[in-house]
Amino acid sequence: MFNVSHYKFGRFFDATYGSLTALEAEQSFPFGVKRVYYIYEVPDGTRRGFHSHKDLHQMLICVHGSVKILTKTPYEEEITELSSPDKGLYIGPMVWREMYDFTPGSVLLVLASEHYNVNDYIRDYKEYEKIATDFLKSEVK
Ligand code: TYD
Repeated sequence: MFNVSHYKFGRFFDATYGSLTALEAEQSFPFGVKRVYYIYEVPDGTRRGFHSHKDLHQMLICVHGSVKILTKTPYEEEITELSSPDKGLYIGPMVWREMYDFTPGSVLLVLASEHYNVNDYIRDYKEYEKIATDFLKSEVK
């Protein structure tokens, strides 16, 4: 869907030593990284996110456990389950997202293209719908 894509990263596997996945900003995915954060110790049944960004690019990786991500625009929506550290979900600007079904102990790592900026968030779905409809009507048919 618009501004959402699925990544499968490489994995260095060794039967004795285990697995390693390495990501290179601007090479493994198409943006530079200015910020890293992770979401963890999420209580059972919690749903979070409920926002869109105006300009931010993000890569979501569930490095332990699993989580479901709803991505949505006024025109389409998709549910992705991230359940392996070698999978990534890219979410670009103007896409609404909600995260849920975090398994106990899961850790969701997020790589972000910009520093934290509260003005880049759209947190009201009705407001998002209005802005995104104007923004997307020329791009998604
Ligand atoms: P929030 O964006 O509300 O999390 P989510 O949308 O995933 O539910 O962020 C929770 C809190 O963390 C909020 O008070 C803002 C703060 N925060 C930062 O200070 N820096 C960051 O990079 C992020 C993502 C959040």
